[in-house]
Amino acid sequence: MSTLLIDAKAINTYYGASHILRGIDFRVARGETIGLMGRNGMGKSTLLKSIMGLVKPRSGSVDIAGQPMMGRPPYEIARLGIAYVPEGRGIFGNLSVVENLKMAARAGTRGQRDWTYERVLETFPRLKERLGHGGQQLSGGEQQMLTIGRALMTNPDVLILDEATEGLAPLIARDIWRICQVVRETGISSVIVDKNWKHVTQITDRNVILVKGEVVFEGSSPELHARPQLLQQYLGV
Ligand SMILES: Nc1ncnc2c1ncn2[C@@H]1O[C@H](COP(=O)(O)OP(=O)(O)O)[C@@H](O)[C@H]1O
Ligand SMILES: [Mg+2]
Repeated sequence: MSTLLIDAKAINTYYGASHILRGIDFRVARGETIGLMGRNGMGKSTLLKSIMGLVKPRSGSVDIAGQPMMGRPPYEIARLGIAYVPEGRGIFGNLSVVENLKMAARAGTRGQRDWTYERVLETFPRLKERLGHGGQQLSGGEQQMLTIGRALMTNPDVLILDEATEGLAPLIARDIWRICQVVRETGISSVIVDKNWKHVTQITDRNVILVKGEVVFEGSSPELHARPQLLQQYLGV
């Protein structure tokens, strides 16, 4: 049996005639925390969508927990334990916080129910104070916490966060980073896309940098820190 939860190989994805992902290999092992980096427009979100079945690659393969899943619909990928929090906030604005969370609840692929409604509220005390509020009454930060809370209620094996701290006040962003750490400690793998490479590399085991749809660096956080010219060249920091 494969220990890789996500194993994407030689992915080529196009939007119309534009060749966006150019032969990308990307894998996630159980328990691994991965930073996916690169400047705007380099293909990070397209790679995540290609994995989740939201965009169909023209060639390559996507295996999820050892099963060939390329071209399968997003709900099938999700059912194999992959929770995806896209850019922007995908909550149900007309439902309350309680409803948003309880609707998402299910056991994980191994029957695990580590993340219960109670545990999510303990982890996100801000949400606890807003239980009866509709999703659209929440601040941007609270909405983001709700989307992450919903993702955790599915008891995933992998949590994918695409720009989760984007546009949030520093204190709220710090709370999201704290949650990433908690997720890591519970043994859930994660893929984190975020502009703040310092925060990202504090918690990641491995980092992947994309430039124009190709992987130009892959390595541990210490390896990346030891090569500041890469950060400068590829991330512009
Ligand atoms: N739906 C789309 N249709 C056409 N081009 C797109 C679409 N989404 C993204 N792109 C283009 O694909 C490239 C990669 O975008 P994206 O994956 O969103 O990058 P990133 O997440 O790294 O900022 C960019 O040039 C972007 O303009
Ligand atoms: Mg993006």
